[in-house]
Amino acid sequence: MVSRVIPVEAFDLVIFGGTGDLARRKILPGLYRRFIAGQMTDDSRIIGAARADLTDDIFRKSVAEAIEEFVPANRRDPKLIADFLARLHYVAIDAQGDGGWAQLKGLMRRNVVQAYYFSVAPALFGDLALRLKSHGIADDQARIVVEKPFGRDLASARALNATLAQHFHESQIYRIDHYLGKETVQNLMAVRFANILFEPLWKSEYIDHVQITVAETVGVEGRGAYYDKSGAMRDMVQNHLMQLLCLIAMEPPYHFDPDAVRDEKLKVIRALDPVGPLDIVRGQYLAGAGQGSYLDHCEDPTSRTESYIALKVHISNWRWKGTPFYLRTGKRLRARASEIAITFREPPHSIFDDAKGWRENVLVIRLQPDEGMNLMVMIKEPGPGGMRLAQVPLDMTFADALGPEAEDVPDAYERLVMDVIRGNQTLFMRGDEVEAAWAWTDPIIAGWEQRGDRPQGYDPASSGPEDALMLMHRDGRRWREIRE
Ligand code: BG6
Repeated sequence: MVSRVIPVEAFDLVIFGGTGDLARRKILPGLYRRFIAGQMTDDSRIIGAARADLTDDIFRKSVAEAIEEFVPANRRDPKLIADFLARLHYVAIDAQGDGGWAQLKGLMRRNVVQAYYFSVAPALFGDLALRLKSHGIADDQARIVVEKPFGRDLASARALNATLAQHFHESQIYRIDHYLGKETVQNLMAVRFANILFEPLWKSEYIDHVQITVAETVGVEGRGAYYDKSGAMRDMVQNHLMQLLCLIAMEPPYHFDPDAVRDEKLKVIRALDPVGPLDIVRGQYLAGAGQGSYLDHCEDPTSRTESYIALKVHISNWRWKGTPFYLRTGKRLRARASEIAITFREPPHSIFDDAKGWRENVLVIRLQPDEGMNLMVMIKEPGPGGMRLAQVPLDMTFADALGPEAEDVPDAYERLVMDVIRGNQTLFMRGDEVEAAWAWTDPIIAGWEQRGDRPQGYDPASSGPEDALMLMHRDGRRWREIRE
């Protein structure tokens, strides 16, 4: 297969928080990779903006170090790195004052795409938006990119949307959920809507249940202060798992077009039932394997914030009535593994006397690591001795199926930043979508806060709290094993 990299239009991309962690780890190394892939035109520029008083050269040096640290050696070419660095500039900026804005204005060009990446605390979004407009910097076509967390509840998300809307039109606002930039997440749409095979079966008549798992091995160390105010529900479910659920559950959009896709996702979010206490399990990891517990990592030794959550969710619409979606995500679990498993129902009638070996068909979509799909199907167990059934996987690991090109798959951030430049909002969340997600999340969180529920402890490197197993067992179902 031949890679088809099409250069995007010339751009000036300003990264507010250009010296911060996300810029260093993801955004700038990602831009370097897009540059070496030939996607950046010669006259495109990246402008780092942050509080510190740095020269262009010092900023370039720090970006060179980030590339050294976060780009694999086989992609690091000194000549290409130097060419990339030559496209970088730096402006010291005061987000809440007047310092630096005149210089930024002097740098920005009118005849290229302007994009402004707000890689800063959400409290500064309004200040930046206001100043980009009041200093006459951002034009009517300019795009702003905002990171999560987008609010911490419906009220704060609404306030943020309202603040941004004072200065920018919705078509200019790109709200990032980096899960939407992951290759396999987009593959969910290709699998569903580019094959005739699955869609006729894609409903509660044929699907028994869906499991969505995002398991991590890392704990919250280093991020304890942020995480403790958030927890797994706000940090992962309201956004990433919700997006996965939407892509699985939504109706076919009439076109792969930003509003057509987002309209369908919004309908799913609005159809989510409230979740009662019996359908929620929250956990906190304990100490073990030489590492501290959740409580050791956050500032409040009595914290009730969850580092794990499992939920049983129902979607009240024709397609999904009667098919529960089980979601779970947590830190410090057995393996880093994210997958969606769709378990089909039994055939209506078995023609085999001895159906002992029978198991359900399961379509497993592995998001990371080892992206691919696995369809568990029944076959005859080989050999003599009558008709015995066995379950085998039809396994497709994308790296095997696609060859070396699969290794070149852009990281989520690379793809999303390029989509901003292209002006394509399909993989970004619309304001009403974020608000609807919070509207569903808020009462669930309020419920456990009012009850004063304490999360259950779970062992590090386990698959989560015991009660999470019960959430499935009592329905006669079981979680798939968490493994890499
Ligand atoms: C982030 C969360 O949005 O996603 C983190 O804030 C989490 O807590 C991360 O670790 C997971 O992303 P990924 O791409 O590693 O699955």
